[in-house]
Amino acid sequence: MRYVVIMAGGSGKRLWPLSRQDMPKQLLNLVGGKSLLRIAFERVSGLVEPDRILVCTGADYADVVQSELPEVEAGNILGEPVGRDSLNAVAWPAAVLAQRDPDAVVAMLTADHIMHPVSEFQSALRQAFEVAEADQHALVTFGVVPTTAHTGYGYLHRGDAVSGFTDVCEVQAFREKPDLVTAQSYLESGAYWWNSGMFVWRASTLLDQLSILLPDTHRAVVELAVHPDRLADIYPRLEKISVDYAVMEPVSQGRGSAHVLAVRLPITWHDVGGFAALGEHLPRDATGNALQGTSVLVDSSDNLVINQSEDGRVVAVVGLRDTVIVQTPDITLVCPMGQAERIKELVAAVTDQL
Ligand code: GDD
Ligand code: MG
Repeated sequence: MRYVVIMAGGSGKRLWPLSRQDMPKQLLNLVGGKSLLRIAFERVSGLVEPDRILVCTGADYADVVQSELPEVEAGNILGEPVGRDSLNAVAWPAAVLAQRDPDAVVAMLTADHIMHPVSEFQSALRQAFEVAEADQHALVTFGVVPTTAHTGYGYLHRGDAVSGFTDVCEVQAFREKPDLVTAQSYLESGAYWWNSGMFVWRASTLLDQLSILLPDTHRAVVELAVHPDRLADIYPRLEKISVDYAVMEPVSQGRGSAHVLAVRLPITWHDVGGFAALGEHLPRDATGNALQGTSVLVDSSDNLVINQSEDGRVVAVVGLRDTVIVQTPDITLVCPMGQAERIKELVAAVTDQL
């Protein structure tokens, strides 16, 4: 049977002060009045029944996730006592599903991506399910044609086309987050796709790779699936590592018993990691300002201005470019667009007070 797991971890520090400890970015109504989590859920509607959709998220967010997605069964919301990075957000659900259904084929999807058109995503997902069902050694990922030498993404070195499918190929090498020079050479070669961060595999195939590459993690998540009451004891002791470094890179180097395949995702795709990506999805005025909420701008261009004040306070700007301004009821953030990554530093400095 086919299942979907939506990975909804992390608080999204680079979108502070919109995102807060108690309001992670996937629950913010950032685009079109819906949360990214709701958008992610609706993106798979019609493909997988709601009772076969799971969400892996922080235990603190389980209630708010449930009210955002009332269609998801309470037992399908896996609440982590602490975040242990994406490996464990795929490993724990795989163990749970393998226990319920030994033939489970699982799509691991993200809650913080925006994609257009959705119909193309759905046909790529259908195709990825078919590949994983046909090939029990496949770890299937989705490739996006790169447009910049982005160093925050993984890169897939494309190999031979897989016969019987359109737009599916072997992955010769999976390289997570290369440095800028390497990313530039990948971009220029035309032989690489960005890794979209979503995966499809049989739960049993992933668990087999874990038993080879990370036997401690394998043992722990299988134990957890059998003894859910031991969550608070087992989960915090899991090794904190991403699925890209722990599984995808080594398997692409032949260190597992599976191989990596990629389905092309011919869509506009963004990981809404920070304000620059968010700005891509907001309406812009004639001088390129992305605006949400009430503001007045004079002789200003290419800014991102979000005003969420609840007392009618207007944001007024003159003579400014490439700047992020975010006003919430209690905080006003001002930051050069080019330094928006540094908001993490700010969050670290202010967490005691806010
Ligand atoms: N539940 C849970 N718990 N989910 C988590 C955790 C965790 O501890 N850590 C990460 N995730 C989820 C995130 O919510 C996100 O949906 C996904 O796992 C990927 O984690 P990120 O931390 O956002 O990874 P990344 O963006 O740096 O890199 C990944 O995505 C890129 C595309 O956006 C990699 O797969 C890259 O190769 C890829 O290019
Ligand atoms: Mg991400």
